[in-house]
Amino acid sequence: MRCSKCLLCLSALLTLLGLKVYIEWTSEPRLGKAYPGSRDTLPGPTASTEPTLPANLSVRLGQTYPLPATYWNQQQWQLGVLPSEDCQAWGAAAAAEILDFASYPKDLHRFLLSAACRSFPRWLPAGEASPVAGCSATDVPYLLLAVKSEPGRFAERQAVRETWGSAAPGVRLLFLLGSPLGSGGPDLSSLVAWESRRYRDLLLWDFLDVPYNRTLKDLQLFAWLGHHCPDVSFVLQVQDDAFVHIPALLEHLQSLPPTWAQSLYLGEVFTKANPLRNAGKPFYVPESFYQGSYPAYTSGGGYVIAGRLAPWLLQAAGRVAPFPFDDVYTGLCFRALGLVPRAHPGFRTAWPAGHGVSPCTLQGLLLVQPLSPQTSIQLWRQLQDPQFQC
Ligand SMILES: *[C@@H]1O[C@H](CO)[C@@H](O)[C@H](O)[C@H]1NC(C)=O
Ligand SMILES: *[C@@H]1O[C@H](CO)[C@@H](O)[C@H](O)[C@H]1NC(C)=O
Repeated sequence: MRCSKCLLCLSALLTLLGLKVYIEWTSEPRLGKAYPGSRDTLPGPTASTEPTLPANLSVRLGQTYPLPATYWNQQQWQLGVLPSEDCQAWGAAAAAEILDFASYPKDLHRFLLSAACRSFPRWLPAGEASPVAGCSATDVPYLLLAVKSEPGRFAERQAVRETWGSAAPGVRLLFLLGSPLGSGGPDLSSLVAWESRRYRDLLLWDFLDVPYNRTLKDLQLFAWLGHHCPDVSFVLQVQDDAFVHIPALLEHLQSLPPTWAQSLYLGEVFTKANPLRNAGKPFYVPESFYQGSYPAYTSGGGYVIAGRLAPWLLQAAGRVAPFPFDDVYTGLCFRALGLVPRAHPGFRTAWPAGHGVSPCTLQGLLLVQPLSPQTSIQLWRQLQDPQFQC
């Protein structure tokens, strides 16, 4: 009798213990992968659909107390607006105030030193007027394809022109590039000038075209849209090694509820991704620079935004401290505006290298990245072939 009571007690205790362990295990945020992050669920339905930009952004960006030893967080805490005059001074101050700045990687040095410098003139072939036409009142695109390329990536651009970027009603194609002069590489100016005149689809600016300068392309694009194409419905910001299934994407965009469409930020969403702390590896972010998880953001391989948000994003960027990765920075700006990303499983931006893709695998997908120009062209041919069957 006594012993059976003991057993009962023991088993009850064990059950409770098991339950506690289970609860702790399930409630622990699982942050297995860090940048570029793990895909996660759709954000909640409480998300606002109208952008707003509060006077004090820190709390909205998730920071409720100062972090004096972490440069980005501290800057954001103090920041009103980024300086528009003497942008170099911002970088010089960063170099002086970050105690272990000397141990930062070289590209992060260069990024920080010029991160507040964001106005660059257009690069125009031999001082000509721009060969890129604005959107005329009678020809406002529904979807603008804004493809981030680099001057030397001629084959990637040509593959886009010959495949998914080829003319379609309501769709317009533009490439975003930095200076073709490069740094220490060959001078591509005359080749790029020829290409620009031939295709009239290159927007170039006079800054060094390196990955850490990609945010500059976003910002210059937003400014260009404000002046030359303010009424575009959607903008796809995409890398030049993506393949986009345009008919499926258009169909999806047309099916969206208007409130979603108006504040759209759509792609492969990473939530709770963390900065990587392996010095010497890609995407390394020092502890003394940034603390905390990244905001939910869409993979930079390709995502769609509502065109009317361009001026809002430009305004947000003037108040969000510079961050080296363009897709994380876009996520920060959306969060500053109080808008959340929408996930769609058809955006696949970590397509395994060497993995082919056929019209059959493309079913249900909107965007695949990265693919080689050859693979894109082969896929396009198969898609055009009426005989092809899955
Ligand atoms: C934001 O609010 C916090 C506390 O509420 C304050 O300490 C901080 O200085 C504010 N930042 C700005 C830029 O006004
Ligand atoms: C970005 O471009 C500017 C202007 O050309 C340059 O000064 C800066 O060093 C570049 N950034 C990086 C990370 O190289």
